[in-house]
Order: sequence, then C-alpha cells, then structure tokens
Amino acid sequence: MILTDYKTEINFSEEILKLKRELNAVILAHYYQESEIQDIADFVGDSLELARKAKETDAETIVFAGVHFMAETAKILNPNKPVIIPDLEAGCSLADSCPAPLFKAFREKHPEHIAVTYINCTAAVKALSDIICTSSNAEKIIVQIPEDKPILFSPDRNLGKYLMKKTGRNMTLWDGTCVVHETFSERKIIELKLEYPEAKVIAHPECEDPVLKRADFIGSTSKLLKFIQEDSATAYIVATESGIIHQMKKARPEKNFIPAPPDKNCSCNECPYMKLNTMEKLYLCMKNKEPQIHLDAEMIRKALIPIERMLELS
Ligand code: 13P
Ligand code: SF4
Repeated sequence: MILTDYKTEINFSEEILKLKRELNAVILAHYYQESEIQDIADFVGDSLELARKAKETDAETIVFAGVHFMAETAKILNPNKPVIIPDLEAGCSLADSCPAPLFKAFREKHPEHIAVTYINCTAAVKALSDIICTSSNAEKIIVQIPEDKPILFSPDRNLGKYLMKKTGRNMTLWDGTCVVHETFSERKIIELKLEYPEAKVIAHPECEDPVLKRADFIGSTSKLLKFIQEDSATAYIVATESGIIHQMKKARPEKNFIPAPPDKNCSCNECPYMKLNTMEKLYLCMKNKEPQIHLDAEMIRKALIPIERMLELS
C-alpha cells in the first residue's frame, strides 16, 4: 500500500522491511490480519504457533500483528525484549468478558477446581490460572487432567461446551463469547449449503452449537487450513473470521472458499479488533517503537507458569 499526501509518498511494504532490518525484528501475524500484513510477516499462525514462535525467536524485537492478549503472551515469554503492536486498542471480546477481579472471585467460589483458561484472556487472568490452552491444544490438555479433578473453563462458553462433548468431561464454564463467531447463523449456512451442495462446512470451535452441528470439520485456524489442504472436496463454507481465507486461497488456489455469512447484512465475519491493525499502523509502530506491551515483573512471573504448562502439555 502506498500513502500519498502533497509532500510525501510512503511505500509501507518497503519501509516496513527496512525497519525490520534496522530493528533486527521479527514480524508475527495472526491469520485474521488483513492480507497485506500476512504477506509481509515473517510468520503467520494461530495463537499456539505464534506463542511458540515468540518463545523460539532470536530476533531482538518482536512486532506482533495480532490482538493485545497475543502480544502480551509474547511479552510474557520474552520479558527482556520490546514487543511492539500496531494498535493497543486491538482487544478481544472474550478477554473483555473476563475481568481479573471477577475471575478471582470465580476461582474462590470453586476452590477444588483446576482452572484451564483459553489463551484469549488478559495477562492478569493468565496469572490467576493453572493451565492455559488454545483451540488447537485444549482437548489434548483436558484429557491429561485426572478424571477426579473438577475443571473451570474460561472464558469461552462455546469452546467449553464443544470440549465437554469431545472429552466427556463436565466443566464449569465462564459465560463469555467471541463477537465474531457468535454471529454466524445456522440458517444462513443451510442456505449456503443449498446454493453450494458440493461444499463442506468447516468451523472454528468458538461458533455456537447449532453452527458446529452443521460442520463437517471443526478446528482452530491452523487446523482448518491444514484440513482444506488434505481434504478432497473442492469447496468449503468457512465459519470463522474471513482473514484465514487469504491463506486458504494461497494454499489451494483451485478450490472455492465461501465465507459463512452472519445473520445480518454486515461484515461481522471480520474481527473488529484484528482489523484495527493496518499496514500504516504497522509501519508507524516500527518507526516509533511504540506502542509497546508493558507488564510488571510479578505479573510476568505468575502468568508464565500456566503458559509454560501449556507448552509442555501440548
Ligand atoms: P486460533 O488459535 O484458532 O488462531 O484462534 C484465535 C482466535 O482469536 C479465534 O477467534
Ligand atoms: Fe477475540 Fe473473536 Fe476477535 Fe478472536 S475473532 S480475537 S476471539 S473477538
């Protein structure tokens, strides 16, 4: 993208690459970022893969094109490195639904329970949790917890319900949802199936149960991407944030990817937080080395424990 005003013309891609060399930075991007950001990133992945990359990198600076909780995770894993994010306001409705003081009270009400918490939460909530999980490793982690140990699962009730079905474990759920995934409509998916009878429905487990019941395959963003590469169908109705379709088209250009529409006439299949990040903001954050993620040392120490447990168990 090129920004022009009466004096200057900025080629963001060129400038970002130049700044990347100057900062000895790595650019990590989530699949829900706009296509240009995905294309300029060093690595594009799901929450788990991005956490792993953040842990492994030897770059001096981490530029995180994703949402705030993901950049916080990178900071917790790299307390001594600057973690820069294009827009500090890029939050997440799940993280917002679970403020740390209420989560603390929830834990105190259930003192016998182990708290398995979805990575879509603040660092303060991570610091109060026993094990963090993502949608790609949650099932694997839950089945490793002794059967007599009751579980609190927070903050996504849809993912929690899905995991209860998959594992047969009864869990006490926090009542949070993703603003994007809860808007997918079962009725619209049925309509799309009638229009594209050859298409398979693939869905993220943050979707509501009626949508998941229509799905031929359910998985995290990276699992959905892997599925369409290995599967023999030629068309897919994609019930997750539409940003992932960029990688799907790159991987299988001959296949047809149909974004699942929400109930209303809106672009609600785009995450309003993820889409706050733009090429211009990516360029500016690298130029200014701001905004950065700042967390106090004690918070980092406490939040690292359940993240490390997740990495060990998955
Ligand atoms: P993934 O871990 O599947 O990438 O999901 C992250 C997310 O925010 C889904 O809405
Ligand atoms: Fe959060 Fe939903 Fe956006 Fe993912 S898509 S970052 S869960 S609001």
